[in-house]
Amino acid sequence: MAKSESKKPASAAQEKHGVATALKDQVGGLMETTVALRRELHRWPEIGNTLPKTREQVLSALEGLPLDLTLHQTTSGIAAMLTGDKPGPTVMLRGDMDALPMPEDTGLDFASKTDGCMHACGHDTHTSMLVSAAKLLSERRGELPGRVLFMFQPGEEGHHGAKFMLEEGLLDVAKGKNGSDSPITAAYALHITSSLPNGVVGTRGGPLMASSDVVSIKITGKGGHASEPFRTLDPIPVACEIVQALQMMITRRIETFDPAVVTITKLVAGTTTNVIPESALIEGTIRAVSEKTRNKVHDSIRRVAERIAEAYEMQATVEIKVGYPVTVNDAPSAEFALGVAESVLGEGKAIQMPSPVMGAEDFSYVLNKIPGAMVFLGGTPNGVNPATAAPNHSNRVIFEESAMAHGVALYSALALRTLGVTLN
Ligand code: NI
Repeated sequence: MAKSESKKPASAAQEKHGVATALKDQVGGLMETTVALRRELHRWPEIGNTLPKTREQVLSALEGLPLDLTLHQTTSGIAAMLTGDKPGPTVMLRGDMDALPMPEDTGLDFASKTDGCMHACGHDTHTSMLVSAAKLLSERRGELPGRVLFMFQPGEEGHHGAKFMLEEGLLDVAKGKNGSDSPITAAYALHITSSLPNGVVGTRGGPLMASSDVVSIKITGKGGHASEPFRTLDPIPVACEIVQALQMMITRRIETFDPAVVTITKLVAGTTTNVIPESALIEGTIRAVSEKTRNKVHDSIRRVAERIAEAYEMQATVEIKVGYPVTVNDAPSAEFALGVAESVLGEGKAIQMPSPVMGAEDFSYVLNKIPGAMVFLGGTPNGVNPATAAPNHSNRVIFEESAMAHGVALYSALALRTLGVTLN
């Protein structure tokens, strides 16, 4: 199926008449197990790239499905390939599986049983929705012209899990069983958010989420008695000046419409009131929505910090730990996803986001290699205001479980439509 054909949005008539009725019925039949698996994952969250219990839960949920499984060695990642009965390209769907190192205070009866560990970003819902999409699409294997690769990914929360899976050959898919070429032509990921109403999804073409880097600046002076600063090189006022100057740098040196954020979150110096310390440490985060600005901010931080320190005869050592790249949606894929979402969820339920969000996501590594899009899935608990709901990463965040029905339908519909199957 040619790209232009497969990416045609559903026609207005199709949307009005709810062509996806059969799909919705199928999703409805899967909701009980979707919720059950999600709750089980929620009870036993795991952190990082090694998630043995989670992997076991996913594998047991996938048992009996006609999938070719690849268990990754460097992480707990699982690549599960569903091959349709007809030849065609491969579409990839991603669900991340890891939790966060934080206590849970939701009071839910399926709250985390692991101290200091919580599924506060909803990755438990992603994993469970992806399992159900695998079940749904397996039932429709006979009508699939192509393949669906389900990417169950660990280590999204800062551990570069997607990068490790790519390095282990995630995208090097073999030819189809009948010998036909079947390259991965598109990749989609969903992310639940408690800040968007249940039943609504949002995304945009171009940058969707920011890059995320960590900056650390050590200012080295000369310690001494607090009463005689002229005989020392006091790093504290210099550290303060650098913090201020970095904010000025952002507003004066960075293009207004290609923004960046530098937030200093940590400033450490000194031990007591009568001692000037030898050094001061500044740390914080750097966000940008283009690689160009990201690089410019890195250079500018170095220049500002080093030269301010130099002006006071001190030394600033700047270290920048590079994190996730900018998450850039392929514009046609994002449009396609919004069209598919509207045909599944109804008119007006797929929102074109006006701007990116400054959080970061390691699906960015995938989108740097394969055209596709990440889509936010509304999961505000029913009856709660999205503007005041506890946000993702809060110890009190609660996601509306019925939103998972929309997610399962959307994952499945994105795969079906990418392979050129009309929704029914
Ligand atoms: Ni997340």
